Amino acid sequence: MKTLLVYTTRHGCAEKCAREIEKGLRGEVKLVNLKKEKLNTFTDYDTVIVGGSIHAGKIQKKISDFCQKNLDTLKVKKLGLYLCCMEEGEKAQQQFDNAFPTDLIEHATATAIMGGEFDFERMNFLERAIIRKIAQVDHSISKVSPEQIAAFIEKINN
Ligand SMILES: Cc1cc2nc3c(=O)[nH]c(=O)nc-3n(C[C@H](O)[C@H](O)[C@H](O)COP(=O)(O)O)c2cc1C
Repeated sequence: MKTLLVYTTRHGCAEKCAREIEKGLRGEVKLVNLKKEKLNTFTDYDTVIVGGSIHAGKIQKKISDFCQKNLDTLKVKKLGLYLCCMEEGEKAQQQFDNAFPTDLIEHATATAIMGGEFDFERMNFLERAIIRKIAQVDHSISKVSPEQIAAFIEKINN
């Protein structure tokens, strides 16, 4: 199995998840941070994983653009989609459903909401103020779910 894992991250959470997934997957895995690298073609890969995170209700534009631009190609790959966010339950599911095209969600072999982190060290002044006010949190916390990551890896490996 040859896997391409495409992601973007603001404070590193989606990247941490990417590295955990990379560790667990069978075969060769290439990680591409779309903020840093451009990806022209990915015909060589039989499996593609796309991951991002939610800020103010939305996934990074680079991820939605990537999904739209490559819709037809992604539909013929073994596909995994994951999201990092701090909301849970129905709200998190809504964010996931809005983050990726429905066709891709239906086609995906594995989908996961991995949880998220508030990393105060990496937030700027404005972000800290927003999180203090809206989430009523004033210190770094992690709600990343190792179980979600493990289940996601298992589905892709099988
Ligand atoms: C300014 C800001 C806005 C956020 N907005 C949302 C949101 O609307 N919904 C949500 O579930 N999580 C929200 N989060 C939490 C992020 O999704 C969480 O921090 C995630 O782990 C970020 O992943 P990243 O570091 O890979 O970008 C927000 C975080 C910040 C700092």
